[in-house]
Amino acid sequence: MTTMPYVVLHGSSSSLILDCTGNAPALLYWGSKLNPDLKPETLSILAKRQTANGAATEDLSITLSPTDGEGFMGQTALRVHRNGQSWGVYTQIVAIEQPDPQRVIVTSADKNSQVSLIHEMYLEPESNVVSTSTKIINDGEQGLTVDWCASATFGIPPQYSDVISYEGRWAKEFQLRRQKQFVGTHVKENRKGRTSHDSFPGLLLAEGQCDDLSGQVYGFHLGWSGNHRLCVEQLYDGRALVQMGELLFPGEIILGEKESYQSPIIYGLHSQTGLNGISQGYHHFVRNHILTSKVKQKERPIHFNTWEALYFDHSMEALSTLVKQAANVGAERFVLDDGWFRHRRSDNAGLGDWYVEETIYPEGLGPLIKEVTSGGMEFGLWVEPEMVNPDSDLYREHPDWILQVPGVKPVEFRNQFVLDFSRQEVTDYLFERMDSLLKEYDISYLKWDMNRDIHQPGNHQGRASINAQTLALYNLIQRLRQEHPDVEIESCASGGARADFGILRYTDRLWTSDSNDALDRLSIQQGLSLFFPPEVMGSHIGPQFCHITGRQLDLDLRAGTALFGHMGMEVNLSEFNERQVIQLKNALDLHKKFRPLLHSGNLVRFKLNDFSHSFGVVSESKDEALYSYTETGGYPRHLPGQFFFHGLDEAAQYRLEIVWPSTLKTPMFENVMDHIKDQEFSGEVLRHFGLQLPILMPESVLIIHATKV
Ligand code: GLA
Repeated sequence: MTTMPYVVLHGSSSSLILDCTGNAPALLYWGSKLNPDLKPETLSILAKRQTANGAATEDLSITLSPTDGEGFMGQTALRVHRNGQSWGVYTQIVAIEQPDPQRVIVTSADKNSQVSLIHEMYLEPESNVVSTSTKIINDGEQGLTVDWCASATFGIPPQYSDVISYEGRWAKEFQLRRQKQFVGTHVKENRKGRTSHDSFPGLLLAEGQCDDLSGQVYGFHLGWSGNHRLCVEQLYDGRALVQMGELLFPGEIILGEKESYQSPIIYGLHSQTGLNGISQGYHHFVRNHILTSKVKQKERPIHFNTWEALYFDHSMEALSTLVKQAANVGAERFVLDDGWFRHRRSDNAGLGDWYVEETIYPEGLGPLIKEVTSGGMEFGLWVEPEMVNPDSDLYREHPDWILQVPGVKPVEFRNQFVLDFSRQEVTDYLFERMDSLLKEYDISYLKWDMNRDIHQPGNHQGRASINAQTLALYNLIQRLRQEHPDVEIESCASGGARADFGILRYTDRLWTSDSNDALDRLSIQQGLSLFFPPEVMGSHIGPQFCHITGRQLDLDLRAGTALFGHMGMEVNLSEFNERQVIQLKNALDLHKKFRPLLHSGNLVRFKLNDFSHSFGVVSESKDEALYSYTETGGYPRHLPGQFFFHGLDEAAQYRLEIVWPSTLKTPMFENVMDHIKDQEFSGEVLRHFGLQLPILMPESVLIIHATKV
């Protein structure tokens, strides 16, 4: 056994101290970077508390996994037993290893309940993201039921008073809500069998004064695509904690002798520079440690997606027209969405029958793909492998292949059931189908969808099975990726219901939301981009009348909003007049021009007022930046205020240019922004004095490029 009572990890801007003097590891400090020479025991001295009357006379610290056996009275991190025994786990640290200066692995064991825990923490030095997970091992002969094993528990200083968490729904995901912490527990549980629209597994704990640009804040994200439980608790004694882990159904995990359960990873981050420090740190981490080098080496092609253009109304004629139109405006990848496979003429039938529908594609997909590739585009295909329609050959042949509770009518949801991935024959069938499509055709991209919640996740052995389902999904995608390393995969789930670092390790892009309404997209993209960089955020130009909200929005706004992510279009181009086609081409060209900046720069968020939405993307060197200002409507005075350019080099000189739209949507006739052309301004003045904004019509956007002189 190594005896290191304290383990200190340092990143570029934060430090973390793990106190291993007690029976289990506990977070002693996590925050701004400390002097490398510091003596951690001095923090323990400072942290010593008085014994309160009416309370235990010893400190019950918030360990990484506080337990009932320790007598901890807040949210405990383990709920295990063997037929009612072995519930009171109380471990002792048996080994502390530091395989490298950034990583610590602490093994603890309890001889009485015959349980071991392995906690692993890794502080990635550049992004400062801390990855933490817990493994539980059954050291006994008798089966150990694990009903809950949190990934980790973090004690949080009480001044972090504000909980910023997520709400949402289909077509309005990633909505941020800020609330004051209260005595008691803020809990979010997700039982949907996918990451969910309404409970993205991320939250922030901020000091009361913290905003986008300044203040201290912690970020937490559980990288897991199944069920989860997140909680922030303020204990009655005044301390606070954050805990996250996989939510398990009864009996889902029963460990045999020497078997183990590995929790998903919590990705934590401390920022002293407000929410911008959080998103910049996570973006850096995703770019360098989650995405594969394959997608990083290539520019993200602009998509044309057929869904909102055709829905299920596929015909070679309509598709050929769209292919030509898409290539003409500058699309770089053509994605054939739902509706191409056997029996799939609506969402009532066909899922599971992954063969090309011969009546529409008599010669297979080959001729269409040829048109797409001759038009200079890549070809992408929509699939939803985890699902089956009752009206399908697959279900008729294998009605027992679905997840269900015996004797209970399955909950209805988009006419489809979920296949039981704990059956090897199911994933083998799907592997064979996907693999043969990828072998037969020149497909560079799969849009991997998942369009229902999993309500009754009982597998063929009668066991609850979301954990196994999620791991088997990762496994299936991984098998396909190994076989077809050049194929990119998008994670989609009725929009953004499966967006997390877990799935992103196996995929390359996220479908953010089914809502292409640019105004809704502002808050959706703002929420998603706290954790994910713009290049994985699928954002499409939708139709003039948004199919989901019915709102009519100008192309300038739709394009100006979509171009800040991984851009695409999802619209019937035959509805566009000549002027709009030119406008669309210009928008795509603009995206292509700024794509290297947008997909590598630092996102800078800031709020000017309640009637607008603004942000910028600044290059790493601060040589250039692209800023977006959207007047969302309702501004009560004539003159909008100043636009402050955050994130530039204050000592440098910059030129400004309005790059979008080509004609400002302003009630004034003169183009009021002409006067800034060819002038130079210091970064300092742009940041602190700002630019007087023009009077814009409601629901219009202004995109400004700043270049260092
Ligand atoms: C989901 C996706 C959409 C589309 C449809 C097809 O809702 O989010 O983009 O692919 O499925 O059925």
